[in-house]
Order: sequence, then structure tokens, then C-alpha cells
Amino acid sequence: MIEYRQVTKVFGSGDTAVKAVDDLSFTIERGDFWSLMGPSGAGKSTVLHLIAGLTSPTSGAVLVEGRDVARMSGKEAAELRRRRVGYVLQAFNLLPFLTAEENVGMPLVLDGVPQREIDRRVPAALELVKMTHRAKHHPTTLSGGEQQRVAIARALVIDPAIVLADEPTGNLDRANGRAVMDLLVDLNERLSVTILLVTHDPVFAAMAKRVLHLVDGSLEQTTASDGDGDALTTSGRRR
Ligand SMILES: Nc1ncnc2c1ncn2[C@@H]1O[C@H](COP(=O)(O)OP(=O)(O)OP(=O)(O)O)[C@@H](O)[C@H]1O
Ligand SMILES: [Mg+2]
Repeated sequence: MIEYRQVTKVFGSGDTAVKAVDDLSFTIERGDFWSLMGPSGAGKSTVLHLIAGLTSPTSGAVLVEGRDVARMSGKEAAELRRRRVGYVLQAFNLLPFLTAEENVGMPLVLDGVPQREIDRRVPAALELVKMTHRAKHHPTTLSGGEQQRVAIARALVIDPAIVLADEPTGNLDRANGRAVMDLLVDLNERLSVTILLVTHDPVFAAMAKRVLHLVDGSLEQTTASDGDGDALTTSGRRR
């Protein structure tokens, strides 16, 4: 589903070169739920960007659904992002002059989906995140937790195979963060959406089935979890 094959990503060159990802290999199976932890600058966001084709590896290959993302044409990569990969960020990035339902429908509008289809899929996505009652609200009139749920509905409206979530609870208080996490767990369990979550919160990270610890662009250790925060096995190199 998502395969990293000896991926290295270097930004810049010469004295200012930064190795954001360093010879990284892993495979995330369809329907799996992994979290990615590590200090600031460890390369977590870069790992997600490479999966979505927002940047290309310096060496190695990133495969999504068996296809090398860097070898896709611009059109194919855009289609991957529009139809297969839902992205959720720390900053919700909702458009302030659009209502919740208009924000959620935006990826479909951009993809040229017929209005009737949009009218069917947007309420379903809002229902999934329990935001039906706020469909006509503008983002400024929603709480942070509600805005993030709308942003998640916008990621889900395309019926993605993969959800990439980069610190989705970073701007939320504990209760709202927990609600967002419960939503991700539910999506994974009920709809078999493959999820890769970046988080700084060890409790939330342990809600995934496996936790990757990234340091200086490479895996320091991986921990399998039972989803309740209890580590089952730990493997990987120690420094
Ligand atoms: N476009 C870019 N140009 C140059 N350097 C970059 C670029 N993007 C990332 N980097 C560098 O690559 C390294 C990894 O960045 P990345 O954003 O992946 O870290 P991160 O683990 O997501 O950190 P944080 O927890 O702070 O979000 C950092 O040293 C960063 O400065
Ligand atoms: Mg980051």
C-alpha cells in the first residue's frame, strides 16, 4: 500500500545540505494504522510529503498502491492527491468565506464532480465527523475541535484509501484531541482507511497499531501496540 524503499531526501546542497530522510525503508499494509513520532526536524512531515508526491526523493523510491510516486506524471500525482490521499494538518486551513459544507465540498468541486454527487457526498462526510448540525456555519463561528472535524470531513469526502495526518491534534485541547483520535481510530477500523499519523503525543501515538520513532531521518525503533497504549514488542537499532 505504502512502501518506502531505501529513501533518502536531501534538501539544499553543499554546506547547507540537510538530510531530512536517511535511507528509510518500511511497508504499511492496506488498512493499517501507524503513527510517527520524533523530535522537531526529524523528518516526519517530509515522510508524509513524499507519500503525497509533494516532493521527490533524492534516492530510493516511495510506492503508493504499487506505483512509484516520483515517476508519476504531474497529472497522475495530482489525481493521487485529489482521489486517493486525504491530508489533515495541524492548521485546519478552512476557507473563511465558505461554510462548513462548502469547505468540505471543495475537493470535489476542484475535481469536477457533478453537483448532484457533491450534494450526496458532503452530508455523508459531515455525518461521519458528527458535524451535520453545523453545516451552514462559517469556520470563524466554530470551535477549534469543530473546525478540525470539518477539515477531516474535507479529507474524507474524496473517499480516500489513505489518510495522512500531520499533528492533527496539535492545536486542540485534550478533549478535542481525543475526539479527533477516536475519529481516526473509527475510520481505520470501520472503513479500513490506511492511516499515517504524525504526533508528539505518546498517548495518541499508542492508539495506532504501530509507532515509528524517527530521529535524524531514520528509524530509531518501532513499537507494536495493542491500540490501548501498551507496547507489545519493540525493535530497531539503539544509538
Ligand atoms: N523545503 C525544504 N527546504 C529545506 N529544508 C527543508 C525543507 N523541508 C524540510 N526541511 C528540513 O528538513 C528537516 C526535516 O523537516 P521536517 O519538516 O520533515 O521535520 P518534522 O519532523 O516534521 O519537524 P516538526 O516536528 O518540527 O514538524 C528539517 O531540518 C527541515 O529544516
Ligand atoms: Mg512537521
